[in-house]
Amino acid sequence: MPLVSMRQLLDEAAKGGYGVGAFNVNDMEQIQAIMMAAKETKSPVIVQASRGARQFAEDLYLFRLIQAAAELNPEIPIAMHQDHGNSFDTCKSAIELGYTSVMMDGSLKEDGKTPASFEENVEVTRRVVDYAHERGVTVEGEIGVLGGVEDGHGAGGSGLEHITDPDQAVEFAELTGVDALAIAIGTSHGAYKFTKKPDGSVLKMDVLIAIHKRLPNTHLVMHGSSSVPKDLQDIVNQYGGKLKETWGVPVEEIQLGIRNGVRKINVDTDNRLAITGAIRKVFAETPEKFDPRDYLKPAREAMKKVVAQRMVQFGQAGHAGDYAPIAIAEIAKGYADGSLTTQPLVAAR
Ligand code: G3H
Ligand code: 13P
Ligand code: ZN
Repeated sequence: MPLVSMRQLLDEAAKGGYGVGAFNVNDMEQIQAIMMAAKETKSPVIVQASRGARQFAEDLYLFRLIQAAAELNPEIPIAMHQDHGNSFDTCKSAIELGYTSVMMDGSLKEDGKTPASFEENVEVTRRVVDYAHERGVTVEGEIGVLGGVEDGHGAGGSGLEHITDPDQAVEFAELTGVDALAIAIGTSHGAYKFTKKPDGSVLKMDVLIAIHKRLPNTHLVMHGSSSVPKDLQDIVNQYGGKLKETWGVPVEEIQLGIRNGVRKINVDTDNRLAITGAIRKVFAETPEKFDPRDYLKPAREAMKKVVAQRMVQFGQAGHAGDYAPIAIAEIAKGYADGSLTTQPLVAAR
C-alpha cells in the first residue's frame, strides 16, 4: 500500500487507546528490521529519518528503500516521517520527496542548538503547517526543549532545563494547528538520560498529564524514549564496549503516557545498542569472519527483537488491519474543508 498519513495512524491509535513507535532508520537493515517486526506483530508503524540519516544514506536511496518496504508489506500501514526538521526548507524537501509527515522542531533555532523564542517557534511551525496540510502531509511540532545532543542536534544540558509549560503548550497548539505535539518532560536523546532509575523529580510525567488534561484530543509525542535496557548495555560492554552506567525511560512510564494522550513514541538509541551489541559479539567470538552478512544479519535480528517488543508494549501490535488507508490527496481535502480538525479541543483549567 502507498505510504500512509501519520495523522491517520495517530487518530486511529487515539481511538484504540494505544501508542505507535516511531523508529529511526539510516540504512536497509534497519528498515528491514522494523518491517520484520511489524509483520510479525501485525503493527502499523512510523519510520523516521533525521537530517543526519538523510545525509548519511542520501535521500533517494533511503526513500526508495521505504517505498520498497511499503510495496513488500502491503498489509502494514507505514508513515514516513522527517525527524527533527530544523527549518521550513528541510521539511519542504522531505515533502517533495514523498514523506507523509514532518516534524518542524522550532524549539531550537535552525542551528539545531540554540533554544528559539516562542514567537519564532510558532512562526516557522505555522508556515510548515500551511505548506504541509495543503499537500495532505502531517506536522509534528515541539514546545519545550529536550536535553542532550545527538549528532550535533540539541541544546545540551539536562532534560530539566526547558520543561514544557502546559499553558504555552495550549497556546502553541492553537496558534500552529499542528497534528501532533512533542513535549519536553525531562528526557534527553541518546543513551545518557538519567543517572539512576528516574522518578518524578527528573521524569515529569505530572507535566505530561497536566498537558493532556488541557489538550485532551491532541496527539502527544514522547522523544528520547529509549529505555536503554541493562541487558543491551551489558552485551555491548561484555564484548569490549565502554558504556557508562545509565538509565533510560522505563516502559511502564511510557505506558502511563499512552494512557494520557501519548500516541507517538520515538525510539532510536535502543536499536543502536542492540545492533552494536550483536556486531561486537560476532567480532569478539569469531574474529576470523569478514563477510558483512555474518554480522549484519544478527544485528538486524537483534533490532527486530527490540522493535517487536516495543510494538507489543506500546499496544500497536495487532492493529495493522483495523482501517483502510486514506489517500494523501483525500487527507489534503480534509484539511482544506475543515473535516480534519487542526484546532485543538482545549479543556478549561
Ligand atoms: O533525534 C535523535 C535521533 O536519535 C536521531 O539521531 O540525528 O544522530 O540521526 P541522529
Ligand atoms: P532516543 O535517543 O531515546 O532513542 O530518542 C530518539 C528520538 O527522540 C528521535 O527523535
Ligand atoms: Zn527526538
